[in-house]
Amino acid sequence: MKNTKTLGAALLLGSLAFSGVSIAGGASAEALSVTCAGCHGFDGASTGPATPSLAGMSAVYIEDSMKAYKAGERNATIMTRIAKGYDDDDFAKMGQFFSSKEMHMAKQSAGGNSKKGKKIHKKYCSKCHEDNGTSADDDSGQLAGQWTPYLKYSLEDSMSGDRDYGKKMKKKVKKAHKKYGDEMAPALLDFYASQN
Ligand code: HEC
Ligand code: HEC
Repeated sequence: MKNTKTLGAALLLGSLAFSGVSIAGGASAEALSVTCAGCHGFDGASTGPATPSLAGMSAVYIEDSMKAYKAGERNATIMTRIAKGYDDDDFAKMGQFFSSKEMHMAKQSAGGNSKKGKKIHKKYCSKCHEDNGTSADDDSGQLAGQWTPYLKYSLEDSMSGDRDYGKKMKKKVKKAHKKYGDEMAPALLDFYASQN
């Protein structure tokens, strides 16, 4: 009996000490973000075109993306493996950290179809991707100023169904694709790249 009590007390003490550590010393948002900087750039301003910038995006979007990667629900080359090393608290901190930074507009050249892209965006996409896809309020990522090679994959995933963007967006992309065919994606990408 005595032994059990002692054990209970030891466990209690142990868990208090442990939670004390995690309150005082749990990895800060800044510390967590250092791991991401190697690929996503300092403060989430990516310098490599295959890696998306994270700066200034909605915290909810970043958090949800990480959860989806961890659960294997979102198509990825590398992020599914990375996300496995963190928990929901970490994801929330990461979301807050990157969303507090100023959005990064990649300096890149655009092809000649920006005007057409603008028209398509306005009609089929702007309702959910406000301000040309730079608004954090709609929790739908960054389009204008995001790196074209990354965005190209992202857009292809939306057409192939490899990533679930929700029924409503799927319907609009399908509609736009029906009208513009193979010109749709390049025109949209030109439009997004033209803003920097
Ligand atoms: C080894 C390089 C690498 C590291 C390290 C890395 N990422 Fe990524 N990240 C990528 C790539 C590449 C993509 C595009 C998806 C894919 O192919 O995996 C991506 C995509 C993302 C996205 C989706 C962005 C969007 O526009 O939808 C988020 C969010 C993200 N990463 C967050 C993080 C966070 C937070 C960390 C740090 C814990 C991190 N990444 C570390 C390479 C990396
Ligand atoms: C009904 C709302 C809605 C409409 C309309 C819509 N989208 Fe989206 N889009 C979303 C949401 C929500 C997300 C984030 C999905 C997620 O969390 O995975 C998203 C994500 C994206 C992404 C991924 C961004 C990234 O960082 O990986 C791309 C690219 C995209 N949308 C392009 C488009 C284009 C192009 C159109 C118009 C043809 C469009 N969307 C229309 C709601 C919409």
